[in-house]
Amino acid sequence: MISAALEAGSILRDGVGTTFKISSKKERHDLVTESDIRSEQAIISHIKAQFPNHTFLAEESGESSSELTSDSTVRWIIDPLDGTVNFAHSIPIFAVSIAAEVNGKLSCGVIYQPLLDELFVAEKGNGARLNGKQIQVSSTPNLRESFLVTGFPYSVSENTSTFVDNFHRFLKLGLPIRRLGSAALDLAYVSAGRFDGFWEIGLSPWDVAAGVLLIEEAGGKITQYSGDNYVITDKSIVATNSLIHNEIIEVLR
Ligand code: IPD
Ligand code: CA
Ligand code: CA
Repeated sequence: MISAALEAGSILRDGVGTTFKISSKKERHDLVTESDIRSEQAIISHIKAQFPNHTFLAEESGESSSELTSDSTVRWIIDPLDGTVNFAHSIPIFAVSIAAEVNGKLSCGVIYQPLLDELFVAEKGNGARLNGKQIQVSSTPNLRESFLVTGFPYSVSENTSTFVDNFHRFLKLGLPIRRLGSAALDLAYVSAGRFDGFWEIGLSPWDVAAGVLLIEEAGGKITQYSGDNYVITDKSIVATNSLIHNEIIEVLR
């Protein structure tokens, strides 16, 4: 998984700032570049070479099962380039995100930021690491002292009120808030204690799979906006250092 992420990272590093073909997906600003495709192909062929009977859920190519057997217990969940809009504008905030589920449960995940050479790795039951060093969520005890990050879905214009109302409520508390444009890095940075909390709606499994395991293994907490347990197919996500979790949920309710 790590070597696949490093290989994909070098494809993105080579691609950023060059001229490339770019097209829109469903929404006008939901872009896909040649680098998204190249990165995804590299990751999948890297993994297939070693694990020919595993299955995949990858952003650009979708769900694919193995040609050898249909009862594989391992599924790889891949975002070959999270932060494509940043990438397309040479903003250096983007990453590769890869996770693996065994029998439907997240088992390991990596998020790799190629320009800073930062590799976040989580292994179920074995902690979270950044470039080999154990990481944990922050110890900020309350929302008042927190530094937060969020994101807006590509479909934000369809229903601005929900996103803007939530955003507005946090702004009114006078909190510093960032919007980086890469949900994978948002989650990785919460796991490393750089941010205290993150919320977003409308993410897909590939945006969050590796990040969710990082947060859990770094001692954080993840739920839906309602406070209910979270799975990677849920619509809303709140990820925090766990200490400020209830306060964030109160604001989002
Ligand atoms: C997007 C980023 C962004 C989030 C969007 C995602 P992409 O992923 O994670 O931060 O707000 O909802 O779709 O398209 O760059 O892979
Ligand atoms: Ca993504
Ligand atoms: Ca992507």
